[in-house]
Amino acid sequence: MRKSLLFIAITAFVIMIINAVSCKHDPIPPVIPPNIQNSNGGNGSNSGICFSDQILPLIQTYCAYTGCHDGNSEAMNLTTYSNIMHVVQAGNPNGSTLYNAIIGGGEEPMPPGSKPQLSTNQVILIYTWIQQGAQNTACACDSTITTFSGAVGPTIQNHCQGCHSGSNPAGNPALDLSSYNNIVAAVNSQNLYGRVTGTSGAVMPPGNKLSDCNLSQIHNWILGGMLNN
Ligand code: HEC
Repeated sequence: MRKSLLFIAITAFVIMIINAVSCKHDPIPPVIPPNIQNSNGGNGSNSGICFSDQILPLIQTYCAYTGCHDGNSEAMNLTTYSNIMHVVQAGNPNGSTLYNAIIGGGEEPMPPGSKPQLSTNQVILIYTWIQQGAQNTACACDSTITTFSGAVGPTIQNHCQGCHSGSNPAGNPALDLSSYNNIVAAVNSQNLYGRVTGTSGAVMPPGNKLSDCNLSQIHNWILGGMLNN
């Protein structure tokens, strides 16, 4: 009797070990940081994830740029909500082609290794959006929020870092916009504000101009002395 109990215990233990070792792609656990749970894109007072302000710009900059998943693409077009929904199963991140591609579990990990990669928080944001039902939501932007952490930083993160970060950032010379210091330097010496308004050179992001509200937040942050607030 005792022996057979011991045998069962050992067998159970061995099975546990085998399971743990053979697990290939651990999906990112749905641990949602509080700043994402109640996130509003940093630009307003809404709760919940806003597709148009937080998810679409990420997909546009990390996936739907020229030559990849853009409107002229022979590969999958990821420029609009309805196109994106071809690779998303609402409520089921792990069953969604999009999510599997960005965690490297698909046939081809996305974005390709040579391109800037999504951060862990951005991956969790997409996971959470799909899990919450992959709604086509928009958030009201609050132009009175003009802080770096509450407005400018999240806007640059969502709309610019897909091209302006990583080992080979876009720009001539290369422009990395992944830190506060670099963003301030780009305002001072690379006319960041002229580029986002399109008043000097091609508008940034190319083909996807920021909203007037986002532009006014950046404008007032610059006028206020570009604080790291
Ligand atoms: C889809 C890719 C892409 C996105 C997204 C993007 N950029 Fe760019 N950016 C480029 C490329 C390519 C260049 C170089 C060609 C040019 O200057 O037009 C560039 C150039 C620039 C320059 C001039 C750099 C220099 O060398 O003087 C600035 C400033 C800039 N971007 C700011 C931004 C900001 C701010 C955002 C977000 C609001 C942004 N970009 C989003 C691709 C991108």
